[in-house]
Amino acid sequence: MKRAVLAAALALGLVGVAQAQPYPSRPITIVVPFAAGGPTDALARTLGERMRVSLGQAILIENVTGAGGSLGVGRAVQAAPDGYTVSMGHLGTHVVNGAIYPLKYDLLNDFEPVALLAANPMMVVSKNDVPAKNLRELIDWLKANSGKVAAGTAGVGSASHFSGVYFQNLIKTPLNFVPYRGTGPALQDLVAGQIDMIVDQASNSMAQVQAGKIRAYAVTANKRLAVAPDIPTVDEAGLSGFYISIWNALWVPKGTPREAIAKLNAAVVDALADPAVRQRLADVGLDIPPREQQTPEALAAHQKAEIDKWWPIIKAANVKAE
Ligand code: MLT
Repeated sequence: MKRAVLAAALALGLVGVAQAQPYPSRPITIVVPFAAGGPTDALARTLGERMRVSLGQAILIENVTGAGGSLGVGRAVQAAPDGYTVSMGHLGTHVVNGAIYPLKYDLLNDFEPVALLAANPMMVVSKNDVPAKNLRELIDWLKANSGKVAAGTAGVGSASHFSGVYFQNLIKTPLNFVPYRGTGPALQDLVAGQIDMIVDQASNSMAQVQAGKIRAYAVTANKRLAVAPDIPTVDEAGLSGFYISIWNALWVPKGTPREAIAKLNAAVVDALADPAVRQRLADVGLDIPPREQQTPEALAAHQKAEIDKWWPIIKAANVKAE
């Protein structure tokens, strides 16, 4: 009798035959590989809030910090490839780290690209006590205090670290790098005067510069930022060609279904088109890529081009995992 009832129920489609749930049917986690309150975390939270609307599911942020972001990326790549764990990263984590660390994952082959998010230049910033009023004076002061100046970073291989190494190589003066789990806490210490400087992402330092709590000397781009037109470019400030753009992006582990990637990508595209999101990003100096650059294919091509560009430079600079 029981069997007959079951057969009838099956025939009527009343019993699920291991039917797959439509994606997404539960919350999605974005693994941020740096400390809460820093620029990567802030971007993930701003976008995650808007992606939730498109995806109809909560977006959870998990901060897994350490080793220049490589621990967080390593955590994400080992997750089930089901679209529920997303790796947030940037030029540091998904390009630079591959030239520095013996990673257990392959940055190009173990991930599927989802979308480019937004980019910002670095900003050379110091605590207000530093007796320099422009970049040339700062460089003179660094030379006079060679090796003694504490420069905060988010760990070896992070954006702030490799930009700091690039900077010290250009000015031929060593800095004393102080690693943190992200530039959020490093910036707090800069404002408090515990460290002297950071080569920091504009989006991280912007509010403190505008509040007069720290001093900005230059942006690592060939154009001034619309939101901070008083800060000169490195070319204008005397360090010509010191260009670094930190672009952020999302990836998922290799093997994630196409449908999940397409839905995540569409949610990013919606978020980047939202006027409120665009304004929040513009306010801190983040630049949104044009629509045609927001595809997974464009991210794959960009990441590969950046690896080809930066790995030789980083290897020549001899940046080592400590
Ligand atoms: C952060 O979110 O803390 C930064 O992106 C770290 C960095 O790479 O400098």
